[in-house]
Order: sequence, then structure tokens, then C-alpha cells
Amino acid sequence: MSRIGGFTQPDASPEYFIKFLSFLDGQGSVKSIRAHAAQCLSLAAGHRVLDLGCGIGGATFPIADVVGPNGLAAGVDVSSAMIEAARERAAGRQGVEFHVGNATAIPFPDRFFDSARCERVFLYLPDRLAAIREMMRVVKPGGRICLVDTEIDSTAIYSTKPALTRKMTSLICASMPNGNSGRELPALARQAGLKGVQTDCFAITTPYEFFQRVAVGTVLKAAEDGLASTTEVEEWLTEQETLQERGEFFQMWLMVVASGTV
Ligand SMILES: C[S@@+](CC[C@H](N)C(=O)[O-])C[C@H]1O[C@@H](n2cnc3c(N)ncnc32)[C@H](O)[C@@H]1O
Repeated sequence: MSRIGGFTQPDASPEYFIKFLSFLDGQGSVKSIRAHAAQCLSLAAGHRVLDLGCGIGGATFPIADVVGPNGLAAGVDVSSAMIEAARERAAGRQGVEFHVGNATAIPFPDRFFDSARCERVFLYLPDRLAAIREMMRVVKPGGRICLVDTEIDSTAIYSTKPALTRKMTSLICASMPNGNSGRELPALARQAGLKGVQTDCFAITTPYEFFQRVAVGTVLKAAEDGLASTTEVEEWLTEQETLQERGEFFQMWLMVVASGTV
């Protein structure tokens, strides 16, 4: 079963990851966070904007709407499958393009972009400081950079078994390279040399169907690896199923947005 931690390279099971991203793209709360991130970038018609780790382009297309056909919204992602899906969605549209590339080797020249953004990618990167510095390389001096991440370690899930729930959410966090990335973004942005770093926080709630996508494969694998007992995992998943049947399921993610100037 595919797991959220597999976003380090989604090519192994693109269908899972495309569904995951499409679901979040449709959420009003995610659209609001993206609108806020766009404000942080001071976008204008004609600007060239990088969307690093763009996935299927959920945030790239709204940027293309603002910069227009004389600007450029460029998505870069390490996954060929995500880039292929994004290119299909672009279907010959002017002012938007997608490239396969790594966060620490962005396939663009120095000072090419007016601004750059990166959403829910730092969770997966081995060297986040190198990625911010690489974003700074391709953005003009005075240009804006905006980083968005989920604070996975702070996931809140309603349960009558809070200690068990804490254990399960900690296992999900530990399955990712940087599960604390949200809270670490502001410090990383400063350490990389961004000026005037501003931090804003948001909360999003997601339904049971999405919880299943995010959590089930990961906690089952944790049981397989001996990090939790099968009984504990089944007890937790069964409780969540029951809460859903009663209309009482609740999950919340905190999202952190850190922005600054090159
Ligand atoms: C959770 S998805 C977020 C996608 C998109 N930013 C969005 O908001 O919909 C994480 C993305 O980061 C990409 N990614 C992971 N490691 C990367 C790397 N080293 N360089 C570039 N992209 C990377 C994955 O392929 C995936 O598309």
C-alpha cells in the first residue's frame, strides 16, 4: 500500500499521489493558503515565477492565471510522473511550463525568476538549506520566496484514546524525512539568508477518506516493522471507522507559511 512518506519519489505509484494531490487541490482551505502565499510573492502580470516541487501543478496554474501569457509560471518536480500529469493538464496553454528537476539543482539560470514558492516539499528533502539557497540562486535580488509546509507532528485527530492517537500520529510523522518541517521553516529561511522572514499559520480539516489515504498504509507498515502492535493499530483504525460512521470524525493539519526577500 502506498504511503505519504513515498512523496520523496512518487514515480513508484503515481496514481496514489495524483489522487492525493487532486483531493487537496479541491479543498477551499488549501486554495486560501495558496492565495495568501501568492500575496507573499507580490505577483504581477509578466512575472516569471517558480513553483518548486510542483506535483501536478495545483498551485502553478493559479499563478499562471495572474502572470498571464507574457509571464511564466514554471513548475519543477523530481517526479517524471507528476510532471507528465501537469503537462497534460497544461495542454498547450501559454505562460506555463513543467520540468523534471531536483530541488537542489533547479534547471534554470541564476536570477531568472521574479519570485519562487515551494509547498509541502520540504517534508521530503534531505538538505532543505541547500534547497532554499538554490531557490535564492534562481530568483533576482529583491525577489520574494515563499515556503509552505504541513506541520505533520502536530496532526490533531479526535479520539477517545488520546495516548494511542498520539502514538499513531507520531509514527506517521516519523515515516517522513522531516515531519517537523512546518515548525522548522522560519528558522531555515533565516539560516539560508532570506531577509525579513514573515511567518503565518493556517489550519485545515480533511475528511475520513483523506485520513485513510494518509494514515492507513503508514500505520499498517509501522506494525509490520514492529514499531506498534497490530492490536494497537487495529484498535485505532476501528475507532476512527466507528467515529466516521457516527459523523464524529475530525482531523486537522496545521500549515506554516514562511516568506522572505532574496
Ligand atoms: C506533497 S507533494 C506537493 C506537490 C505540490 N507542491 C502541491 O502543493 O500540490 C510533494 C512533491 O514534492 C516533490 N519532490 C519530492 N522531493 C523532491 C526533490 N528533491 N526535488 C523536487 N521535487 C521533489 C514530489 O515529487 C511531490 O510532487
